[in-house]
Amino acid sequence: MKRKLVFATNNAHKLEEVKEVVGENFDILSLKDIGCYEDIEEPGETLEENALIKACYVKEKYGYDCFGDDTGLEVDALNGAPGVYSARYAGGDHDAKANMKKLLKELDGITNRKAQFRSVIALILDGKEYMFEGKIEGVIITEEKGSAGFGYDPIFQPDGYTETFAQLGMDVKNNISHRALATKALCEFLKKI
Ligand code: IMP
Repeated sequence: MKRKLVFATNNAHKLEEVKEVVGENFDILSLKDIGCYEDIEEPGETLEENALIKACYVKEKYGYDCFGDDTGLEVDALNGAPGVYSARYAGGDHDAKANMKKLLKELDGITNRKAQFRSVIALILDGKEYMFEGKIEGVIITEEKGSAGFGYDPIFQPDGYTETFAQLGMDVKNNISHRALATKALCEFLKKI
């Protein structure tokens, strides 16, 4: 029988991505699937903390084994900012345009444009905690290019490519992205147990 495992998200795209690669042993449930409609806060100061907070919340309140994720864009010249604060870099309202504008302003005149997206997944399974990570390195270009994707995609150009995530489109991105790599690491682990 398949084991139930909750992904502490209601993001349909993220759920689909995991379901595609998780294999036969696990039935992946969303927060809505278990009747969790509240927003889980993310007060942590690191991606690892926030990912674990989400997984622990579900385990403690709903009793399910669970994993949670958190992602950030870490810019070298800004000592890793916006990092864990990527979603609300320009304020509390998760405004991608405003976030990009702020980042481009902070990097104005700076030649070191290196950055990486880093995704962390924290898993609670059978009373133990596990962490998985995926990252992709690239550069922040000086203006927005492309219209696919979300967040900082129009200004992030992965190493080895001459286009941004937003120009490359989801087919390419879903194969090479930080999230895809973290998901793959999680699913490879789940297939072995
Ligand atoms: P989350 O943890 O997946 O919700 O990601 C937090 C924030 O990081 C998002 O709100 C975006 O601003 C940014 N982000 C995460 N993943 C991506 C991506 O694949 N492309 C662009 N921005 C991203």
